Amino acid sequence: MIIAVDGPTASGKGTIARALAAHFGVPHLDTGLLYRAVGFAVAQACGNPDDPADAVAATGFADSLLDDPALRSESCGGLASRVSVHPEVRAALLDRQRAFATQPGGAVLDGRDIGTVIAPQAQAKLFVTASVAARALRRHAEMRGRGEDVTRAAIEADLAARDARDAARATAPLCQAPDAVLLDTSDLSLDAAVDAAIALVEARLAAHHA
Ligand code: C5P
Repeated sequence: MIIAVDGPTASGKGTIARALAAHFGVPHLDTGLLYRAVGFAVAQACGNPDDPADAVAATGFADSLLDDPALRSESCGGLASRVSVHPEVRAALLDRQRAFATQPGGAVLDGRDIGTVIAPQAQAKLFVTASVAARALRRHAEMRGRGEDVTRAAIEADLAARDARDAARATAPLCQAPDAVLLDTSDLSLDAAVDAAIALVEARLAAHHA
């Protein structure tokens, strides 16, 4: 059983994917972390994230980097969005994601292209979204909670720029797979969004086995 969870930044997809993994008892991969690790490694090597050769050279990052809290920063998200436009980078990360998706017993993966490219055969696909305003509000609260001094307007502008870059790139753009179920979390609490996601996936799996 493969569950694919795609959607833009701060839509709630990460929390939903983790909750689905716990509910169904399968492992979870946050694929955004892989791109964040590449972006971080490029910056560490003083490379240029917009240069495909520099970016692809950074895909050989050490696995231990995935545990580094620095990857969660907004700046790393921006770097990830820039390195992820290079088809060579996406290709270098493909096998690892497909191997995770097809492991015996199943898996949950979240990202941008799980239902379209990494695991088009997934039994259940969710496309989790929310308005830019709702996502900026959440991200703002999160960052203020960490003591970061940012305005909501700046976050909103950054999210919109990242959405545009993710949706416009030629290779594996952010888009809803035709067979994915849309879950708009704009007006839902996190708990309500998780409950809705579990119900949607259960319905999909039941339909699949019918
Ligand atoms: O999900 P997260 O915000 O951690 O992702 C960071 C960036 O990595 C995204 O903005 C996107 O550009 C890229 N990404 C991607 N494909 C994925 C996951 C993330 O292109 N499957």
